[in-house]
Amino acid sequence: MPGGIITPIQLRAKFARSRVFMPILDSTTVEFISGSPAQTARVGERLGRLLRGGEVICLAGLLGAGKTCLAQGIGRGWGALAELTSPTFTLIHELRRQSDRARLYHVDLYRIESEAEAWMLGLTDLMDSKDSVMIEWPERAPSILPPDRLWVALEFVDETHRRLMFHATDDVHQSLLDALKRDAFGV
Ligand SMILES: Nc1ncnc2c1ncn2[C@@H]1O[C@H](COP(=O)(O)OP(=O)(O)O)[C@@H](O)[C@H]1O
Ligand SMILES: [Mg+2]
Repeated sequence: MPGGIITPIQLRAKFARSRVFMPILDSTTVEFISGSPAQTARVGERLGRLLRGGEVICLAGLLGAGKTCLAQGIGRGWGALAELTSPTFTLIHELRRQSDRARLYHVDLYRIESEAEAWMLGLTDLMDSKDSVMIEWPERAPSILPPDRLWVALEFVDETHRRLMFHATDDVHQSLLDALKRDAFGV
């Protein structure tokens, strides 16, 4: 190869090696392909560090898509004292941290029988509060969700890869997404 000339194919290969594949679809949506559970959790950690209270983060996707894995990372980044687990019987888990009296809630609507049940859980109060809330299976109770939120759609790609689509619907969550873009993806 003549010295110094890089073909578009080589450039693309170089680009692919040097950073995570992350096309920005539009300013409110970001797509990210994760190559491992650890990578998904690390993105979560970055996001968790940026939470200031009052955010609603919806984690949508089928079983095994990586919602709990991402939520665990968020809990870690936020500074939760306990490792977050997949709630078995309780639908709502409250996480605490050492630094202040803030709370982070982890909700899993997988087991609700009806939307009415979600209304009875008192979720609306949580989502109106100054605490941050993460919700797995938000699709199960669309009527309860506030219009202002960060929606994360997780999809199975193959055994080790998951597609994460982040979409913000208001200024607060857009600022959060912008900070995550800068922080985690360097754009
Ligand atoms: N890139 C990835 N990101 C997240 N999880 C992954 C990834 N690749 C494989 N996995 C596996 O997929 C499963 C995801 O489980 P979990 O986070 O509990 O999913 P969900 O809460 O969406 O049902 C785990 O067994 C994890 O090891
Ligand atoms: Mg889960």
